[in-house]
Amino acid sequence: MATLQVDPIPRALYSLGLLIRELEIPLTNPIQTIKDLTQSALGNINAAASLADLEKVRVAVLGRKGELAGISKTFGAMAPEDRAKAGQLLNEAKATLEKSFEDRKASLEGSESDQRFKAEWIDLTVPPQGIAPGHIHPVTQVQDEIEQLFISMGFRVLDGPEVETDYYNFDALNIPSDHPARDMQDTFWMTDGHLLRTHTSPVQVRALQKYGAPMRMIAPGRVFRNEEVDASHEHTFYQVEGMMVDRDVSVSHLIYFMQTLLSSVFGRKVTVRLRPGYFPFVEPGFELDIQCLICGGNGCAVCKQSGWVELLPCGLVHPNVIANCGLDPQEWNGFAFGLGLTRLAMMRYAIDDIRLLQSGDLRFLNQF
Ligand code: DAH
Repeated sequence: MATLQVDPIPRALYSLGLLIRELEIPLTNPIQTIKDLTQSALGNINAAASLADLEKVRVAVLGRKGELAGISKTFGAMAPEDRAKAGQLLNEAKATLEKSFEDRKASLEGSESDQRFKAEWIDLTVPPQGIAPGHIHPVTQVQDEIEQLFISMGFRVLDGPEVETDYYNFDALNIPSDHPARDMQDTFWMTDGHLLRTHTSPVQVRALQKYGAPMRMIAPGRVFRNEEVDASHEHTFYQVEGMMVDRDVSVSHLIYFMQTLLSSVFGRKVTVRLRPGYFPFVEPGFELDIQCLICGGNGCAVCKQSGWVELLPCGLVHPNVIANCGLDPQEWNGFAFGLGLTRLAMMRYAIDDIRLLQSGDLRFLNQF
């Protein structure tokens, strides 16, 4: 403010009202001061490099205690006609500066958002980094391998319904309703008389009825048992059914294919044993056991302390089954097997609790 500064002013003089007019007489003409100030303020506004700087300029010039306000205080010393002129000029200066301030503000805001846009710019065409790919479930991995192996040996891979009829799950497989073997598998029955298939064997019958003989097929899939769940039992698990029907199929064919299967899956020789086994749909029937790969035969929860795991029940297809499929058992015979796919995956990857497989727990799944 272009007023004469006299400091300190004796209080007494103020109170007497003396000299005050003289002291506030501006040293320069206020009209010129307004013009000068407007010019320099316009320069400062345009020079402001950021919104924060601009705000400082605005407060210094246009603020309540700013320079323009300061000038207006000096008007009291002016002649009335000069005062009116100066007042008008001051208002014009204010309007000019406010407009210029708003313009500069808009342009700074624009460039600041441009800068932010540049800083935050994302190239959407760059391939993402560090996204973890999914893992193939251990059961699916083993299933895929088995499918490839059997396809290479001329087998087809077939599918069958998980909700089955009594006929396909039992009767057609030589298990009539009064047969005690029905109790071998605890069944989930549906209210309409259907059931959740307890094994993949019904696909044998469906395949022969649909495509006839000769037939080489496998049918991997989900099966269900109404069982207490523990480390080695699940209500839902996976099997692979296999069947070959032709003329003159013998137990040696069966052994050949089972040996090929196991050495391929384990990639090494495993210890196996063959015992007689009873299944209504095969005759003769066998249990093919492998020595437990978890405990090496010493006994653990998975092998129920026996050192052996039942892995591959199998046999020669019962003539009644061949006949139920509309084929002549005098002409056609074959072998069949039902591989416990879930158990096989557990052996292969040394998984000691079957419940992990369906847990959906990523800490488990990420290991495969
Ligand atoms: N379906 C039988 C089960 O789930 C397993 C089985 C045994 C399948 C012998 C076969 C077989 O094809 O020949 O217990």
